[in-house]
Amino acid sequence: MTGSVTSEDAYTAEPFVPARGGLPALRKAAADCHGCPLHRDATRTVFGAGKASARVMLVGEQPGDQEDRQGKPFVGPAGHLLDRALAEAGLDPADAYLTNAVKHFKFTRAEPRKRRIHKAPTLREAAACGPWLAAELDRVEPELIVVLGATAGKALLGSSFRVTQVRGTVLEEEIHGHPWRLVPTVHPSAVLRADDREGAYRGLVNDLKVAARALG
Ligand code: URA
Ligand code: SF4
Repeated sequence: MTGSVTSEDAYTAEPFVPARGGLPALRKAAADCHGCPLHRDATRTVFGAGKASARVMLVGEQPGDQEDRQGKPFVGPAGHLLDRALAEAGLDPADAYLTNAVKHFKFTRAEPRKRRIHKAPTLREAAACGPWLAAELDRVEPELIVVLGATAGKALLGSSFRVTQVRGTVLEEEIHGHPWRLVPTVHPSAVLRADDREGAYRGLVNDLKVAARALG
């Protein structure tokens, strides 16, 4: 076996994250990340997108099929729904930095050559990828973090995070010694899967309005 990953506990992006440089340096280095096994089957790293001056950072779970193909976060069905919800909530996409807790697409196939089906990343994979998210927070220093769903919430706030308990509220939490304001909400993919899709969508928009008001 070659490479730095010798056991599951050794999964971490840490050695791949440059200490210096802005978002372009991070993005470039992330393209070669082998911090956990997810890079093996995915097409490419999908790093965050947006300006370093963005006021709000939205953190999703992981890239999906379309994101994996195009190399950009939130360009598939969940992304389109999110764009619509952001606009309705009065959040300017130009003010938003979009990223994911995990930067590679994890999937299964029911049969060889069949459609790729999204598979949720494990806590260990999210923890491995954490140094990238920490580096993005460090470079962007957003005024507010919008937490999209449980994977992002656990990655940022720990495994006891429950989206239903805190959604639509402004949290003030210290993460790695830095105080952040966060507004959790559901993941846009959960809206697409909901039985009451319209109700779930309204809930997402209402939570994003809380974020918009908190930004002022
Ligand atoms: N879901 C996510 O969490 N992130 C994406 O980029 C796309 C879908
Ligand atoms: Fe690195 Fe994250 Fe991809 Fe794992 S998922 S290889 S830690 S970028």
